[in-house]
Amino acid sequence: MNTNVLTKEQLQQFDRDGCLAIPNFFTSVKAQELRTAAENLLENLSLDGHPMTKFTTGTTEENKHVGDDYFLQSGNKIRYFFEEGAFNEKGDLIRQKERAINKIGHGLHMLHPLFKEFSTNKTISTIAKQLGFRSPQILQSMLIFKQPYIGGQVPSHQDSSFLYTEPLSAVGFWFALEDATVENGCLWFIPGSHKTTPIDKRFVRNPNGSGTIFIDSASQKELQQSVQNEDEKEFVKLEVKAGTLVLIHGSVVHKSGPNLSEKSRYIYTFHCIDGEAKYPKNNWLQPEDGECFTSI
Ligand code: FE2
Repeated sequence: MNTNVLTKEQLQQFDRDGCLAIPNFFTSVKAQELRTAAENLLENLSLDGHPMTKFTTGTTEENKHVGDDYFLQSGNKIRYFFEEGAFNEKGDLIRQKERAINKIGHGLHMLHPLFKEFSTNKTISTIAKQLGFRSPQILQSMLIFKQPYIGGQVPSHQDSSFLYTEPLSAVGFWFALEDATVENGCLWFIPGSHKTTPIDKRFVRNPNGSGTIFIDSASQKELQQSVQNEDEKEFVKLEVKAGTLVLIHGSVVHKSGPNLSEKSRYIYTFHCIDGEAKYPKNNWLQPEDGECFTSI
C-alpha cells in the first residue's frame, strides 16, 4: 500500500506557486554523505582529454565541436562542466580544478550508486505519482556546485524550455546539500508564473551544425536573442537549509544568483518527465546508446 509523502496542503501550494520547499526531507548525515561523494568526484576529475583544456588553443570550429559533443552526449555519463570564470582570456585554467567546476552531469542517477539510490526509490516514485505523473521518468541529473567567489548566476528561465514535452510535464527535484542563502546563490522564483508564462522557446540541437540553439517553440525558427521581460520585483527568494527538497514546476520562472561569498552552495538535482508525453527528437538531450530514460 502506498503511503503519501506530500500533504494535501503541500500539493495545493505547489499547484498555486509552482515551487515547493520541503524542509528536512533528508538528514544532515545523508547531506554530508552526498557532499563527500561530490567532493570525491571533483578530486577524481582528470583534465587529460577534457575538451575544456583544448580551449587553451583558441576557439576553432574543431575545438568547439569537441566541447559540444562532450555536452550533448553526457546524458548517460558523468561529465564535468567548468565555470565561465575559471579561465583567463588565453584559455588557461586559473583556478584549482576542484573549485572551477560549475556542474557535473547528466547521468549521476544512472551511474553513481549513491545518487542512483537517492534518486530512484519508493519515496521519489510516490511524490511523482502524487504530482500526477502517470509514467515518471528521470531524464537527467546534475550536481551544481557554486563554489565560493566563482559560482555563476543562472539567469531567469523555465526548465520546460530545456526539457520540453508535449504536453508539458517536466518537474525538477532540487536537493540542498548545504544551506542556500542570498549570499551564496539561492533560488529565486516568481510564484504562480507557471500558470501565466507560456513556454515560448526551446533549447534544441542545432539542425545546421554542431551545438545547440534556442528556437521559438511555436514556429521552430531560431531566436537571435531571448527576451527577459519579467519584473525583478516579482521574484521571491527561496533560502533553504541543507536537507531540503525543492520541487520546481517546469513552467515556473526561476533563477539563482552568483556566489560571491566564502561559502559554497552544493545542490543535487534531477528532472522528471512523463513517459506518456511526446519527447521531440530535436531536444538537446536525447537518450544515448539506445538506452531509455530511467523509469521510477
Ligand atoms: Fe532551472
